Amino acid sequence: MSADPVRPSVCTAAVLSHEGRGAGYRLLRLSAPAVAAAAAPGQFVHLRVPALEAGALRRPFSICDADPATGELAILYKEVGRGTAAMASLAPGDGVDLMGPLGHGFPLPPPEATPLLVGGGYGVAPLYFLARSILARAKSKSLEGRKNDHPTTQPPNPPTIHLFVGGRTAADLLLLDEFRELGVEVHPATNDGSLGAKGLVTVPLDAFLSERRGDHAFRPVLYACGPAPMLRALDGRALAGGFPAWLSLDRRMACGVGACCGCAQKVSGPDGAVRVAMVCSDGPVFPQGSVVWD
Ligand SMILES: Cc1cc2nc3c(=O)[nH]c(=O)nc-3n(C[C@H](O)[C@H](O)[C@H](O)COP(=O)(O)OP(=O)(O)OC[C@H]3O[C@@H](n4cnc5c(N)ncnc54)[C@H](O)[C@@H]3O)c2cc1C
Ligand code: FES
Repeated sequence: MSADPVRPSVCTAAVLSHEGRGAGYRLLRLSAPAVAAAAAPGQFVHLRVPALEAGALRRPFSICDADPATGELAILYKEVGRGTAAMASLAPGDGVDLMGPLGHGFPLPPPEATPLLVGGGYGVAPLYFLARSILARAKSKSLEGRKNDHPTTQPPNPPTIHLFVGGRTAADLLLLDEFRELGVEVHPATNDGSLGAKGLVTVPLDAFLSERRGDHAFRPVLYACGPAPMLRALDGRALAGGFPAWLSLDRRMACGVGACCGCAQKVSGPDGAVRVAMVCSDGPVFPQGSVVWD
């Protein structure tokens, strides 16, 4: 897991914009400078839903994007129940009580690695922030190289990032234009075949991996966020293929900071010993081979 996160802030974030993305999905942009400055990809915010009773629990949402320069933070969410239905009425200028950034996010890949991002539904949210962060690091390394004045040295190419994205229908595949604008190669899959490969997201992923079998220069690092069966299948692929993977677990949460044991998850360490971890504070991102799948 990545280094200890900085202390989370609690703030009232102002809604900047709130747009429907179809099929019950919405993109919420907030002004939250302290959270945006400290956020790392894979971390989440715990949001107190306005319009619910005072004692209602906060709801966790992945940070879909954060810009320290503007103080903006984006959340991509799906309306599934009472809290997310109440969030749907948020309008520009409204205030939202926010705690974050929380949890341990995705470690960035080594520069020579090929990042394979795998998402289902709103699981693409933290992957978008990850893709932006990988590319921003590559750009700053290239600028650093130029500043150090090595005119004969070519700046390293930014890595080609691949996104494997799955959903029931085309309407569940989100942010595809935004990923493509970053230069990410998108490999879609839908259960009904309405976009991309027909079937699960593992269909295009398996095809991609088998094309590269025997290529010793190919160093994949897999990053995934989505439903548990998808994460479990990917964990198996990473273990069988001998490459690293980082899996972001989705769990119902209460406190969000490791105090209530409401998000307990069995994990095993390198020595095989099983212990209980808290998804909110030890995760939500766990390395391949560590989650004990029930
Ligand atoms: C680390 C983390 C990051 C998340 N990121 C996002 C995100 O980026 N976008 C997004 O839309 N959602 C995200 N979620 C899920 C989100 O927190 C829930 O959908 C939300 O809390 C539901 O609130 P509700 O009041 O609308 O639903 P409720 O009325 O509480 O529940 C409605 C239905 O949703 C189910 N449900 C509630 N919470 C979860 C959950 N965590 N996982 C699976 N099913 C759940 C319930 O069992 C029930 O069937 C994330 C969860 C975690 C733990
Ligand atoms: S939600 Fe309370 S310990 Fe994780």
